[in-house]
Amino acid sequence: MNLTIVGAGAIGRLWGCHLSLHHSVHFWTRDNARTLSLTFNPLENASRPQPYHFAANQPEQLQQADCVLLTVKAFQVEQALTSILPYLPPTTPVVVMHNGMGTHRMASALLPDNPLLYATTAQAAYRPSSAQLNHTGLGPTWLGAMNPAGHQQKHLAEALQQALPPCQWHAQILTPLWQKLAINCAINPLTAIAQCRNGDLAQAKYHSRLDAICNEVAAVMRAEGIAADSTALRRQVDQVIKNTAANYSSMNQDISQHRTTEIDYITGYLIDRAQEHGIAVPENTRLWQQIKQLEQQDHDA
Ligand code: PAF
Repeated sequence: MNLTIVGAGAIGRLWGCHLSLHHSVHFWTRDNARTLSLTFNPLENASRPQPYHFAANQPEQLQQADCVLLTVKAFQVEQALTSILPYLPPTTPVVVMHNGMGTHRMASALLPDNPLLYATTAQAAYRPSSAQLNHTGLGPTWLGAMNPAGHQQKHLAEALQQALPPCQWHAQILTPLWQKLAINCAINPLTAIAQCRNGDLAQAKYHSRLDAICNEVAAVMRAEGIAADSTALRRQVDQVIKNTAANYSSMNQDISQHRTTEIDYITGYLIDRAQEHGIAVPENTRLWQQIKQLEQQDHDA
């Protein structure tokens, strides 16, 4: 397959390196460079660091892509889709993969004909410098259709599974997207505010706040028609805290590096849906306000 990956952040590069072992991979980035080179350090030094070289920003390669994988942050999706639209045939499947929710209606409107799919991944990667990529965590990826044409693209789950397992097709992709949102609502704001590692949230002082977050998210999920049990969500959150104990969450890193966070697409999306259903979400609202204050302080500094 010919693949174009839109967005050269840690997750885009991670999929790019793995997919390039079986497919031709081209990147579409904001800087217009014609190539992208990096050194990839596999998980736990399973093998030696490897150099990778990719073509980038070549409209004819985008036009010939069999699939576009969009890995930019949620707040960049609209701009990224607009930048590829002039070159994108209406038959090319587009897979959107980001933390948080709330871009799918806009993406469907921008791509009325293309097969549209969403994916959520628990794979983790980190860029210690601009030309280096470390694979820092393994986890499942779910892929599913966001419009009727997307349902014809199940074979893409096999390509992702071959590249970076485990990856499975999900007939109701909103379910794993909401489950991941619950994990992000619980871990990301708390670790960003306390500037701590994910594993620190296992301390007793965080238990009641994590319980409250999970109760609120489960209530909104049920109102959205997604099966959810707050005890089961809480268990999943504990599992991720344990599995990623040594990691700094993406929001922790965004706050410490003075970057815009994904809070409006994580807790903000939850609050938006809660308002729609008339559900009070006070714990999540407090966390959203605290992160917005931290972002504002950075902005004013
Ligand atoms: O955003 C992140 O950092 C990750 O999605 C997660 C699951 C919270 C682990 O760090």
